[in-house]
Amino acid sequence: MNSFLELCRSRRSYRKYTSEPVDKSQLDSILQCALMSPSGKRLNPWEFFVCTRQEHIRPLAACRSMGTTMLQTAPVAIAVALDSSLSDTWQADGAIAAHNLLLAAADEGLGGCWCHIYNREQAEQQVRDTFHIPQNLNVLCLITIGHKAEERQLYDLQKLNYDKLHYID
Ligand SMILES: Cc1cc2nc3c(=O)[nH]c(=O)nc-3n(C[C@H](O)[C@H](O)[C@H](O)COP(=O)(O)O)c2cc1C
Repeated sequence: MNSFLELCRSRRSYRKYTSEPVDKSQLDSILQCALMSPSGKRLNPWEFFVCTRQEHIRPLAACRSMGTTMLQTAPVAIAVALDSSLSDTWQADGAIAAHNLLLAAADEGLGGCWCHIYNREQAEQQVRDTFHIPQNLNVLCLITIGHKAEERQLYDLQKLNYDKLHYID
């Protein structure tokens, strides 16, 4: 990838993947990026549960009534789980780590998507049971990663919502 700007332009949510597995070396470097995420007071309250077993991932598509299509084809699902007793910034810490996973996947030319789990119906307990995640950890999201099986447009710099920027004199 040429620049961080281009990486941000190309990072989109990909919810359909081919059956090609993700190389272990690619997955390892994506996970290293998560482990380098910043966190409040450097408390690193996150744990990452990495699953490449289709028989575990596919049934999780039913963990919520909507918003889970990426789990129907993903070859990799990573649960980002955090101990809220360790840090009052755990949700921010988890979101940054999850986003590092997504950016790293995009940088590898792979597709990824965030599937929200925390506070979503029965989803958290189902993911916890499937991945054997201890009860003291909150499951924030599943990050799916795989080879893209759909086209998405790059972000157009001309069409960004510049109204969101507020310059203070
Ligand atoms: C906190 C958060 C939760 C999300 N939850 C879901 C989800 O449960 N299911 C889903 O399909 N996409 C989910 N997404 C992806 C968003 O829908 C997506 O990022 C947004 O529509 C912008 O599209 P883009 O990622 O292609 O730029 C989530 C994204 C974030 C940041």
